[in-house]
Amino acid sequence: MMERRAVLKGLAGLVGFGAFASFFGCRHLGDSEMADDSGRDFSINGRATLRERAAAKGIVYGAACHQRTLFSDTEFAAVFAKECGILVPEGELKWGTLRPDPNSYNFAPADWLVEFAFKNKMLFRGHTLVWHGSMPKWFPDIVTSRNAEKFLCEHIATVVGRYAGRTHSWDVVNEAILPSDGQPGGLRKTPWLNLLGPGYIDIAFRAAKEADPKALLVYNDNGLDFDTPDNEAKRMAVLRTLEQLKSAGTPVHAFGIQAHLEGDRKPFNAVRLRNFLKDVASLDLKILITEMDVIDQKLPADRAVRDRVVAGLYEDYLAAVLDEPAVIAVLTWGLSDKYSWLAKYRSRDDKAPVRPLPLDEKFQRKLSWNAMARIFDMAPRR
Ligand code: G3I
Repeated sequence: MMERRAVLKGLAGLVGFGAFASFFGCRHLGDSEMADDSGRDFSINGRATLRERAAAKGIVYGAACHQRTLFSDTEFAAVFAKECGILVPEGELKWGTLRPDPNSYNFAPADWLVEFAFKNKMLFRGHTLVWHGSMPKWFPDIVTSRNAEKFLCEHIATVVGRYAGRTHSWDVVNEAILPSDGQPGGLRKTPWLNLLGPGYIDIAFRAAKEADPKALLVYNDNGLDFDTPDNEAKRMAVLRTLEQLKSAGTPVHAFGIQAHLEGDRKPFNAVRLRNFLKDVASLDLKILITEMDVIDQKLPADRAVRDRVVAGLYEDYLAAVLDEPAVIAVLTWGLSDKYSWLAKYRSRDDKAPVRPLPLDEKFQRKLSWNAMARIFDMAPRR
């Protein structure tokens, strides 16, 4: 094993790969597939939480959650507050939840989450102001190309303004790029693009900046992690879009990479991912890992094997991304397997419970928790 790491170090030196990531022996510098490595060591020192270990390096760790879960499951809420230094609502700040009708806002669930974060000395991030998902049913009948800008700016001013000064960051625009849609600039065909044209992105960021000058304004997207032609095309399109926004003076401060990772291992090339993040950071942007989980839908039934493969991908991926100093936060999309969106959206054919997150269904630490703890412990301090 040590010999293998020496080889990786040598390779890393060649390709400018950080010492931290190569030290961790990222098992991929090429397009290799990784099988389960039963000898892999996930040991950790001490009992400090992920929140504490990340904070010791100037990194914020946290997770998404639903208000109804934290409200009803007090045992989970206590664990969540211990392990997480930042909270993002999984659905409560989306149009579909916030806007029961064109003239009103349902802020109660999000208000409760902001209060929960404050009481537990956690940071709070907003998700998301502009997205094609979770749109209210009334939207297509009410919003037209004539009133769309007014609707968008009023929504952002009202929602961002309500939590101004108490929000670490906002996913202002989410998943706006999809090269396979064949639109100019690789933009995704969304209601906002149809209504306002490509300028909707700039409009949204400027409205958010006006409503909360202190919040970090983030462009957030997915499908960027693996060494596949579609992920590469998307990385290039995202980079071009961020360059254009920056040169137009759009107040975008950071890039959010969702990191919903497929555990069955499409080729993962740490160097390629690392270089993409370096290019993003060179635009004077911070980077957040915003929605990390490892989808185990197609992994073997054996729980020990599944947990090792999932933990290995957490460690390899985070070793690569935290080698980039511009990466300031890591959030998982949920904290416990019990409440993962994947149980419903990516369930297993064998009906076995999914295991994509750091804590199991009884809120016990798993190998993926260890993997994250090891990475935070070894990460370069920001
Ligand atoms: O709140 C209603 C409830 O009243 C109703 O009884 C129930 C009926 O099914 O639906 C509930 O709303 C659901 C909502 O989650 C809250 O649980 C919606 O149907 C369901 O579609 C929605 O799914 C969320 C999805 O985004 C769409 O908003 C998932 O929980 C959430 O994990 C997922 O998160 C997205 C990110 O926002 C963006 N990146 C991808 C990520 C995964 O798809």
